[in-house]
Amino acid sequence: MIRPLARSAALASFLGLGLLAGTQTWAFADPTYHRDVEPLLQKHCQDCHRPGQVAPFALLTYEQARKRASDMQTVIEDRKMPPWHASTKEGGPFRGARVLNEGEIKTLADWVSADCPKGDPNDAPTPRKWDSDWTLGKPDLILKPAAAYTLAASGADELRVFVLPSGLTEGRWIRAVDFKPGNTRIVHHMLCAFDVSGRAREMDDDEPGPGYLTFGGYGRLKSGLPFFPAGGLGGWAPGKFPNVLKGGVGRYLPAHADVLLQVHYHRDGKVETDASSIGIYFAKEPIDKLVRGSLVLPPRAGLFSRPKLSIPAGDPNYEVRGEWTARADIHLHALTPHMHWLGKDLLLTAVFPDGKKRTLIKVDHWDFNWQDIYDFQSPVAIPAGTKVELLAHFDNSAANPTNPNKPPKVVKWGEQTTDEMCIGFLHFTRDDEHLHNQPPPPAAWIEMMEKRAARPQPGS
Ligand code: HEC
Repeated sequence: MIRPLARSAALASFLGLGLLAGTQTWAFADPTYHRDVEPLLQKHCQDCHRPGQVAPFALLTYEQARKRASDMQTVIEDRKMPPWHASTKEGGPFRGARVLNEGEIKTLADWVSADCPKGDPNDAPTPRKWDSDWTLGKPDLILKPAAAYTLAASGADELRVFVLPSGLTEGRWIRAVDFKPGNTRIVHHMLCAFDVSGRAREMDDDEPGPGYLTFGGYGRLKSGLPFFPAGGLGGWAPGKFPNVLKGGVGRYLPAHADVLLQVHYHRDGKVETDASSIGIYFAKEPIDKLVRGSLVLPPRAGLFSRPKLSIPAGDPNYEVRGEWTARADIHLHALTPHMHWLGKDLLLTAVFPDGKKRTLIKVDHWDFNWQDIYDFQSPVAIPAGTKVELLAHFDNSAANPTNPNKPPKVVKWGEQTTDEMCIGFLHFTRDDEHLHNQPPPPAAWIEMMEKRAARPQPGS
């Protein structure tokens, strides 16, 4: 006897609806591995879950998926996997969001409940291939540390900044930056910025071996204040495609700038080496607008002082607020929230001059391990006078498994593992800027920085 479901599936395919099955897996009530689950794993999991990548096991075969089936269901339903920490209900929308839709979650759950039917191998999608070449073709400039870094087998995750002299003798406009992890087993994700003050080189010189150790940011100056690079250059996580800036928008890399590559290393229990590289693509079209950076911070006493932050020991839900006001009409291109181990949640809201509000990003479960850059799918218009409000919470209780202080102690602003931060980095362009391909102002500032940075290169 033909079961009603099989009959309706046969009818659907007879009517040509089977063509939809690839994109709308929820169309089938009895999902099978090959037809429904495998495409889902290809799309959402295999960038990380395959041999030689940062995730601890592969999800390439039926046996591998079956063995992990109930774990997969749990992490998917809790939205722990794929790792993506911005809310999908509010804020964004962001480019390249690693998110499963409700239908996909249901497909996986139904498959697990039905005891993981394998289905017909003829339904299987073509296995994915991963190209080791640069996605956008050969970069105009490839930067890589002179020597590989050796990561010990055990210990906590590590964040290290590599200082890569650009060697540029004139400033260049940039349309895209791509990243190539040297060792995908340990490179968890990367962030990138540039320095024109020579300070990052000093921090590198002060530590033996390639690069310098940091905690979240780009290091700490001798004065104890955090070091902020002159500008950002984007970031990478497995599966992320480079963001190509369009419409006369670019980033500017001043002459002699040092590119700073911050790598988050996730140890795999073996001694490993890595030398990851950055590929820079120069702008082909005239550039009118520079991607600038600014920070939404909690209140501070003066421009160069630390924000006032003091999280009481034991407080499970300490609230922090901050505010930033747009002085000109701008477009917001991307956001990078930043907190340390006590961070719990973070919300950035635009309050427009007419009183209307828009959630920019909402992170409900902050995870220090995933410091993503969130690129808006299309830049958000922010008129002058708009306030960007920051609202965040910290969990400084003993019950927080990531609390680095046992027992908890009062935690203040700082760069160490046991300190905290609360920042909303904004990446934006000014609507009234028309650079006509000229270096961005203030030209005098850039000139001064370039002179400072034009010291002899290491080894010359
Ligand atoms: C961007 C990389 C990435 C993607 C995409 C990804 N994972 Fe993971 N996954 C990891 C890493 C790294 C770990 C190790 C634990 C951690 O760092 O959170 C992990 C751990 C897991 C675990 C073990 C969880 C635990 O608590 O130990 C499961 C199960 C899992 N992933 C399933 C999935 C599934 C299913 C998908 C796709 C729907 C997926 N992952 C997509 C990187 C990824």
